[in-house]
This record gives sequence, structure tokens and C-alpha cells, in this order.
Amino acid sequence: MHSATDRQVKIVDVGPRDGLQNEARHVPLAAKVVLVDQLAAAGVRFIEAASFVSPRWVPQMADSAEVMQRIARAPGVCYSALTPNLQGLEAALAARCDEVAVFGAASESFSQRNINCSIDESLERFAPVLRRALEAGVPVRGYVSCVLGCPYEGPVAPAAVLRVARRLLDMGCHEISLGDTIGRGTPASTRALLEACLREIPARQLAGHFHDTYGTAIANACAALDMGLRIFDSSVAGLGGCPYAAGASGNVASEDLVHTLHAMGYETGIDLGRLLDAGRGILQALGRAPTSRLGCVPR
Ligand code: HMG
Ligand code: MG
Repeated sequence: MHSATDRQVKIVDVGPRDGLQNEARHVPLAAKVVLVDQLAAAGVRFIEAASFVSPRWVPQMADSAEVMQRIARAPGVCYSALTPNLQGLEAALAARCDEVAVFGAASESFSQRNINCSIDESLERFAPVLRRALEAGVPVRGYVSCVLGCPYEGPVAPAAVLRVARRLLDMGCHEISLGDTIGRGTPASTRALLEACLREIPARQLAGHFHDTYGTAIANACAALDMGLRIFDSSVAGLGGCPYAAGASGNVASEDLVHTLHAMGYETGIDLGRLLDAGRGILQALGRAPTSRLGCVPR
């Protein structure tokens, strides 16, 4: 028999950041703000709304401060942002983000391509970011990218993931999001990764961040659920990919993940109908047809 808390799943919708950062055409500020507000209205309590990275690297996120300023700030909702360095952190603090995230990688080549430094250099750079954020009372999430494969190096060893995850936790991250950036994961490789991670890190500090490039994201999330994970990142309407991982299609669609979880008796606190509305709204703004399974089912 499962306890009530065991049935509760935390969903972090990363669509406004991980999704929109990958859009080649400029997305109007108003559409970003509406998306974040609609997600909050749908009951999403954790929304990655912005990214304070270099606008030369990711121009789409250049208006992150304005997004944070214009959103409605629903009570009880955590609005977070990516912060690769102190410059980004100061901007995120000025924009009153509730949480920030540093992002490392389990593969050297991806680290170089994504944040222009080695894994160890990135960890050194994150240390002062964590110190300053925690001083300011802002919790920090840590991402590890390429946990189930790298676009440049191929397979990634669980030990490489664990090393970076451990260092991020030791620095003070409260949660580690394990990113299958290129969607290479399968339920079997997900289990192998989590077996290694769970030997040293409790499940409550790990999040599954699956991409659906090869259609395995829901299966991977179910494997992770079976192993005790209760935190998942997903992207409304399956928006996204990664600008530094060619061919990476979007994160698992929030609609599909939430539907699956609810159908299995898990609770997310999210109103699926309103989540679908949020997805339709942003797809309309982007001029795009639905990509989530649920978005294709006639109403
Ligand atoms: P760099 O060029 O090595 O940095 O980039 P720098 O310190 O030499 O600075 C260069 C210029 O950038 C300077 O401007 C800085 O002011 C500016 P200039 O003097 O030349 O005019 N700059 C900034 N501007 C605004 N905000 C900042 C900032 N920092 C420097 N925070 C850097 C290093 C990390 C900044 C760069 O590589 C970068 O911004 N990378 C971000 C890449 C990115 O956002 N990738 C996508 C997110 S990761 C992801 O999607 C994966 C994940 O979702 C997990 C998964 O899906 O699996 C997390
Ligand atoms: Mg992602």
C-alpha cells in the first residue's frame, strides 16, 4: 500500500525556459508572460520562467527580466530561472526569482559547447553563485545535462553523472535534475543510472528531466517513478530541445506526463484541462500544430 505523500508528484514546468529558449524566431514578450500566467492558473506550482544567461549565446531569453516583472506572481508558485554565473545570479535576484538553477554536464564536450568551460571549471564557477544565492535566502537547483548520452561523446557513465550531482549537492543545491538532454535514455538505462545515484542520493533530491526525442520519455519517467522519484521536469506542449545539442527534440510534454500520472493514481495538483489551454495558447502564438499526444486528441 502506498502512502498519500508517495502518490504526490512535483512537476516543474520548464517550457517557458527550456522550451522557448530553443525557438529560432523571436517569441513576443506578451506571449511568454501569458504562458507563465496560464501555467500558474492551471495549478503548476514550479515554473522555470526565465534564464539569465548571455544574450549572445541565447538571444531568446534576453527579455527574462521583463518576463519576471510582468508575470502575475500567483501565491504559492515558485518562479525560477537559470543562472550560469554571478552576473546571471545578480540579475535573477534583482528580478525577484524564487529559486535559481545552475547547470552543469556529465560530459566534457557538452560542458564546453554549452557554457564554454570544463566540468571542473563550471563547478568552481557555481560555488560563489551558490554562496551568494543561499546568503540571499534563494534556494538553488542543480542540473546535470547529458545524463543518458551526449551528442558529442555518446554513452555517459552513471559514475560521471553521480560525481557532478554529488559536487552540486555538497555546494548546497537542494535538488538535482537529471537531464536526458538528447533523449537517448531507455527504461533500462534510466534504471541503471538511478541505481547508481540512489546509492548515494535520496530520491527526494532527484528529479527526472526526460526528452522525448525517440519516444521513450514517458516510459523513462515510469521507470524512475518505480524507483521512487517523485519530481519530474516537463515542458508544456512539449516545447523545446537544446540549442547546444543538435537534434534534441523537446522535453516530455507536461500534458502527456500529467495525464499518465493522473491515470496511474498519482496527484500533481494540476488541472489538465487548463494545462491543455496553456499549451494551445503558446502553440497558437508560435503558429505551430500540437505535438503532445493529448493535444492531438479531439476535445
Ligand atoms: P562566456 O562567453 O565564456 O562568458 O560565456 P564571459 O564571462 O567571457 O562573458 C562574455 C560576455 O557575455 C560578456 O559580455 C558578459 O557580460 C556576457 P561582453 O563584455 O562581451 O559584452 N555575460 C552575460 N550576460 C548576461 N547574463 C549573464 C552573462 N554572463 C556573461 N549571465 C556563459 C559563458 C556561461 C555566460 C555562456 O556560455 C552562456 O550564457 N551559456 C548559456 C547557454 C545556455 O543557456 N544553454 C541552454 C541552457 S542548458 C540546457 O538547456 C540543458 C538543461 O535544460 C538540461 C537538459 O535539458 O537536459 C538545463
Ligand atoms: Mg531539457
